[in-house]
Amino acid sequence: MQFAKRLDRLPPYLFVDINRRIADLRSKGIDIVTFAIGDPDLPTPSHVIDRLCREAHVPANHRYPESDGLPELHEAIADWYKARFDVELDPDTEVLPLIGSKEGIGHIALCFVEQDKVVLVPDPGYPVYSMSTIIAGGVPYFVPLTEENAFLPDFESIPESVVSKATMMWLNYPNNPTGAGASLEFFERAVQFAKKNDILVCHDAPYTEVYFDGKKPPSFMQAEGAKDIGVEFHSLSKTYHMTGWRIGMVVGNKDAIRALFTVKSNLDSGIPQAIQLAAVEALTGSQSIVGEHNAIFQRRRDKLVKVLQDIGLRTRVPDGGFYVWAKVPEGYSCVDLTRELLEQVHVAVTPGIGYGARGENYIRFSITLSDDRLDEGIRRLSSWRGGVR
Ligand SMILES: Cc1ncc(COP(=O)(O)O)c(C=O)c1O
Repeated sequence: MQFAKRLDRLPPYLFVDINRRIADLRSKGIDIVTFAIGDPDLPTPSHVIDRLCREAHVPANHRYPESDGLPELHEAIADWYKARFDVELDPDTEVLPLIGSKEGIGHIALCFVEQDKVVLVPDPGYPVYSMSTIIAGGVPYFVPLTEENAFLPDFESIPESVVSKATMMWLNYPNNPTGAGASLEFFERAVQFAKKNDILVCHDAPYTEVYFDGKKPPSFMQAEGAKDIGVEFHSLSKTYHMTGWRIGMVVGNKDAIRALFTVKSNLDSGIPQAIQLAAVEALTGSQSIVGEHNAIFQRRRDKLVKVLQDIGLRTRVPDGGFYVWAKVPEGYSCVDLTRELLEQVHVAVTPGIGYGARGENYIRFSITLSDDRLDEGIRRLSSWRGGVR
């Protein structure tokens, strides 16, 4: 077999060793509390499931869906953006449903990245931004997100030689893995930078509805001129706890959306219609579930942040999302600490290096585990006897 060279450019999966060790301990009957998975433990709201069940019985929904999605879903997405962010979108040209936002995040590089062109990606960041760049033949340039800069990129620090080759830039707020938020003023600066340099901004926003202390995060699309130069990826996964159903959307610049549709319509056949109609139900039905979920996540966040501070892992209290990004103590690498927590107190976390080189001094905790398991995890973390080396 003659494998394509692009496969060699994809870095090896970093968690192989740690996952093997977790499986090993579990096979010996040892109970592991895992903070490593960012997948909500709470169920999808029942009115959404009821709609899915009803629609699954309708024969018209058993056939191939239209690859650009049902008109009622386009409308529901546009109406949701208007209600939540006061952003006007043309449902036909400025909205495109996706098979989960990851699918669109992966495919958009095929529309904007030529051989050796550069994509600006945050470091640390969701790995799909750099992987899709590499698969498309481009080169990721890792823009540091540092604690000193509140985990926002400093556009001015990117060398001109890089900017001149860049065609796309990824942003993601509320941020995975750091938990940082961004202001509308920051998004406006991003628009100016992108327009000046003719770079498409892709804002990945699956966590705008997971926020704390009542502070609702803005949409990139609210920024003046955003539609001229950017798109925003969104998802029903985190808002309505529908990760397994695979449905999301991209909105914004109509030319970019048309380009993505051209690629997608040649590669996929859309989202099963019953799932599209369940998504309409989620977007247009009662939104009270969002506040109820956030109260639960906020309580978990506060408990976790407290124990981490007590045991000497410095953390910035997250503004939104499912993650707590904790600094490893002096003398540890993130992999050392991940191993030690696993072996000593049977707690699994994600080493920060999995999100980029700038994650080296951090570990990521997810709060998407049940309250019982969280309490057990906290009890174990309090008994950890490390911290100084
Ligand atoms: C930052 C970020 N973007 C995108 C996704 C993908 O979400 P989905 O494909 O479920 O919409 C995730 C999932 O964990 C994520 O953390």
